[in-house]
Amino acid sequence: MLLTDAQRREFDDRGYLFLPELFSAREVAVMRAALPGIVARRGPEIVREKDGKALRTAFAAHTYDDTFAKVARHPRIVGPARQLLGGEIYIHQFKVNGKAAFDGDVWQWHQDYGVWQRDDDMPEARGMNLAVFLDEVTPLNGPLLFIPGSHKRGVYAAGHDVETTSYPLWTIDHETIGRLADEGGIVAPTGPAGSGLFFHCNLVHGSPSNMTPWGRTIVYISANRTDNAIRRFQRPAYIAHRDFTAVAPLADDCLLRTGDAAA
Ligand code: SIN
Ligand code: MN
Repeated sequence: MLLTDAQRREFDDRGYLFLPELFSAREVAVMRAALPGIVARRGPEIVREKDGKALRTAFAAHTYDDTFAKVARHPRIVGPARQLLGGEIYIHQFKVNGKAAFDGDVWQWHQDYGVWQRDDDMPEARGMNLAVFLDEVTPLNGPLLFIPGSHKRGVYAAGHDVETTSYPLWTIDHETIGRLADEGGIVAPTGPAGSGLFFHCNLVHGSPSNMTPWGRTIVYISANRTDNAIRRFQRPAYIAHRDFTAVAPLADDCLLRTGDAAA
């Protein structure tokens, strides 16, 4: 799948692109069927909320689950990522974020490249996130909040917050967020399960907690250019991957085929 010139301009201008129903209901059902096995795993790659139970984020599911291995190589992910980043890509990070009903906690304001630069020494802001909604995302159940256009001025100062949630994050102070939001506003792209939300690695974003009875599972593929590989390996390989091989896309119907993914 390829994006149009208008879609590429929109991404460059706002820092994100929303594609409703990028994946069909059948494909969403296949992805959702893989979730219980991931939530049941015991290991450091599965991060729970502060209650120690609800899934906050499951890292590297594409390395231990066949369905998510296909998602990481899906042409509706790889094609746009190559176009928007302007070259071959590898998977820097892969996560399934739970934002569970009642218990899903906030993600504080941050830029992903702010984390990737500081923690992983990624040379340039040539990465991006490709998010796929596995639940309907509404204004109520902890949607992503974006400050449009905030990706254009590099990396903002950030502090390492190791207390607010169960997962440490480089977060941006309130004064900076206030200034950026006065200029660019705040949007919360919402839509049905299967929607795609692609965003630049310098886009300032966060998400509120989920106090509703409706879960908000989103899978994130973080793509990076192969010529922009990380140079520091202080974080575990399940968080910041070490395989810099260019991703070869699978067939468009790969999620609907059983067994190994056909190329
Ligand atoms: C993230 O910014 O990495 C996660 C945000 C979310 O899933 O709400
Ligand atoms: Mn993020």
